[in-house]
Amino acid sequence: RHPEFRHFMLKEIYEQPDVVRACLEKYLNLDWTQNRTSESPIHLGLPASFYNGLAEIHIVACGTSLHASLVGQYWLEQLAGIPTRVRYASEFPDHPFPLTPNTLTIAVTQSGETADTLKALTFEQQRRSQLTPACRPRLLGLTNQPNSTLQQRVDHILHAPSEQEVGVAATKSFVAQLIVFYTLALDLACRRQMLSSDRLDILLREVERLPEKISQILAATDAIAQLAKELVDTQDFIFLARGINYPIALEGALKLKETSYIHAEGYAAGEFLHGPIAILDEQVTVVAIAMPGQVYDKTLANLQKVKSRGARLIAITTPVNSEAAALFDSLLPIPDVDELLSPILTVIPLQLLAYYITVYRGLDVDRPRGLTKSLSAE
Ligand code: BG6
Repeated sequence: RHPEFRHFMLKEIYEQPDVVRACLEKYLNLDWTQNRTSESPIHLGLPASFYNGLAEIHIVACGTSLHASLVGQYWLEQLAGIPTRVRYASEFPDHPFPLTPNTLTIAVTQSGETADTLKALTFEQQRRSQLTPACRPRLLGLTNQPNSTLQQRVDHILHAPSEQEVGVAATKSFVAQLIVFYTLALDLACRRQMLSSDRLDILLREVERLPEKISQILAATDAIAQLAKELVDTQDFIFLARGINYPIALEGALKLKETSYIHAEGYAAGEFLHGPIAILDEQVTVVAIAMPGQVYDKTLANLQKVKSRGARLIAITTPVNSEAAALFDSLLPIPDVDELLSPILTVIPLQLLAYYITVYRGLDVDRPRGLTKSLSAE
């Protein structure tokens, strides 16, 4: 049952199980594992020409959409095996990727109106005329607002259905973008025969259970609110993760700083040891994502070093063994999940942490100072 929502941000965080369901219904046939009535369980509605000879993917985006793109990059490379590069849209016209044939350029923007992202697309459109029509980059827009300016600038559009998001800090629009990236990566992986039918079955069953798992995390909101109360006066936060959750560390830090104005930075946990670790002392709180999977042991080894500097350590993880638990001062539990899909869950407690810290600091969480939902000027 939903608690009473004092703010749009909290309401929108709680809408995420429904948003995930809507995205899955739009693009996936989840009965496919039992009842193979179609050739593929994925129906993105893109024409065959979209896929022809696709050799490379370039992505441009800003802010939270950029973090979704970094998770998307991981899926596109690791699942579909397609070399994928991501760049800040604001940097792209001055530092474009070399123009390559048979490239898909994806512009990701929740609002479909961000000037930097539209500008990057215009740049790409202009220079692609140098290539012969058959191998020109295709332009794809991924957006939560299908009737936005973005639609007029791209060849194809993928809609991430999340309905209107009022809170300036993106929450449900981010999760919707992740689901769309995931289905695109699955689609490309199937077409390129990168997935066995057993692995595809497992991944489909896992994705189907995501709404229920998000609800389980939301059911523990009181514990996150309690932790937020203890952290309300903390002045420095570091968010750490490795692998596919690294972009979620960046997103956790962005969520916290844009709503609460507290200094927060996200790092890849291994890279953090190469210099930034020097800032740690008892005053700093480290929030670490440590999900079981291929990077788990390496993450724990990194966190041992963090702990030895005296920083308070909060873990976002599945229930852990006692040795790992001894390392953490607090633990925010995540249900068991395939590591590949874990970013869709690990971001939820980070959204709630940012929300409650901001509310306990007496700030307007839905309208952070000096921010708008999207920047329509460069
Ligand atoms: C910024 C917003 O201006 O635009 C961020 O403050 C947002 O919250 C970013 O992530 C990108 O917006 P969009 O609409 O392009 O995804």
